[in-house]
Amino acid sequence: MNYLSVENISKSFGERTLFDNISFGINKDQKIAFIAKNGSGKTTIMSIINGLDEPDTGQVVLRKGIRMAFLSQDNKLQEELTIEESIFASDNETLKVIEAYEKALENPDDEEAYQKAFDGMDQHNAWDFETQYKQILFKLKLEDFKLKVKNLSGGQKKRLSLAIILINRPDLLILDEPTNHLDLEMIEWLESYFSKENITLFMVTHDRFFLERVCNEIIGCVVSRKRELQNRNRVRKTFMKLKKKHKVVVRKIK
Ligand SMILES: Nc1ncnc2c1ncn2[C@@H]1O[C@H](COP(=O)(O)OP(=O)(O)OP(=O)(O)O)[C@@H](O)[C@H]1O
Ligand SMILES: [Mg+2]
Repeated sequence: MNYLSVENISKSFGERTLFDNISFGINKDQKIAFIAKNGSGKTTIMSIINGLDEPDTGQVVLRKGIRMAFLSQDNKLQEELTIEESIFASDNETLKVIEAYEKALENPDDEEAYQKAFDGMDQHNAWDFETQYKQILFKLKLEDFKLKVKNLSGGQKKRLSLAIILINRPDLLILDEPTNHLDLEMIEWLESYFSKENITLFMVTHDRFFLERVCNEIIGCVVSRKRELQNRNRVRKTFMKLKKKHKVVVRKIK
């Protein structure tokens, strides 16, 4: 099942063309590593996929009903909030369902609205939301929920950004350098989390070990002839290693 299609997108900043007419798709259960040189436009593509930036041409189509989450390269947290407040300030479907249920509780006479809110709680598995988010915070070693973001280290901020995303249980995860600032133990936890869960991934990473353990497909962005050769070599090397363990497909972005 196709979750997302990138169709003929191009982007330039002034005179500089970052990429031209790029197309690719992301299907359910694919775990795709996206490889391209530093500064070649990976973050820009991810921002376009997530609607944070506009392409000059083309479009990105997300399948209706698919929930996508984005872990950006820089953190987007609010400095004044605590760890726990950051969870509640995030755009989370389950929180909206809980909010609707709490509102319905205030008007118990409206039985229809109450039933709808109650069913929503069931569907989203929202009754034990507190346990769910606390479990993930514990696993990501963010036990002190009252700490403010401004007092967190780079690693803790990255872990909090990850926690916010994982708590939301998205269908499709877009990750820009997910292992930056993480220690080995956390990287290993994330590897096993992504391998076990029924999650679809599209990620940029320079972490070759992480890529090899988590991804089952690589796509490479090709811009110039020289870059094309460099890229092909990198992709081929990684592919040879991966092939031993997984069924791997290497695609070149059109
Ligand atoms: N809003 C902007 N205005 C002008 N130039 C920009 C803008 N955003 C990005 N760029 C430039 O476009 C190029 C690609 O940036 P981008 O961050 O997408 O690359 P990247 O492949 O993610 O890089 P890295 O490997 O460092 O993460 C860079 O040279 C950057 O300076
Ligand atoms: Mg980048």
